[in-house]
Amino acid sequence: MSFDRNIKIAPSILSADFANFGEEIRAIEGQGADWVHVDVMDGHFVPNLTFGPPAVKAFRPHVTTVMDVHLMIAPVDPYIEAYAEAGADVITAHLEAGPHIHRTLQAIRATGAKAGLALNPATGLDAIPYLLDMVDLICVMTVNPGFGGQKFIHSQIDKVRRLRAMIGDRPVHIEIDGGITTETAPLMAAAGADVLVAGSAVFKGGSVANPAPYGANIRAIRDAAEAVLATA
Ligand code: DX5
Ligand code: ZN
Repeated sequence: MSFDRNIKIAPSILSADFANFGEEIRAIEGQGADWVHVDVMDGHFVPNLTFGPPAVKAFRPHVTTVMDVHLMIAPVDPYIEAYAEAGADVITAHLEAGPHIHRTLQAIRATGAKAGLALNPATGLDAIPYLLDMVDLICVMTVNPGFGGQKFIHSQIDKVRRLRAMIGDRPVHIEIDGGITTETAPLMAAAGADVLVAGSAVFKGGSVANPAPYGANIRAIRDAAEAVLATA
């Protein structure tokens, strides 16, 4: 996994057909997805339940790009190794998931996976200087985590801008997650995000039998984000 700041579109399979993950993953990759975003929820840290390690392991052979695993679980430390063994390329844990995020990030890197740090909308950037050199990605949640299809929270634009300045030239991705559309993607690209997670906006209108809308949706989000960078 090499580092660059080009815009990357990471469809969240939370919006896929749950009876057909292998084909859905192949369809979004075939239609231009850069990464595949996997939302893991525990019904405790967030009010929804999704994928345990065996499910993520079953996704792995279908992913040829980057499997980006977003853990919305607490506690998180006991499960890091299992998700790494399931084949996650990036493992992202929430700062709010426990008192020892520093240890959690060390544990993620020790598995060989890239380490991601996610921040809920109400979480500030106070801890970032102490964590910057141990992360490969910082995920700014632009909705309250738990569900797809929610409305983008505009206060996060300024957070991304400040985060981008803190990162400087370190090889740390800024990922944004929640409510990303052709309207909100350019705001975040301009603020400094490079990995754009999108669930409902990618999967709308398509299916494995008719994947072309996935491609059109991915292109529309990418074009909107890149257009604002070209004029910056
Ligand atoms: C929210 C998840 C997101 C979500 C994005 O808890 O982390 O990845 O699926 O879905 P949309 O793009 O529909 O807001
Ligand atoms: Zn997510």
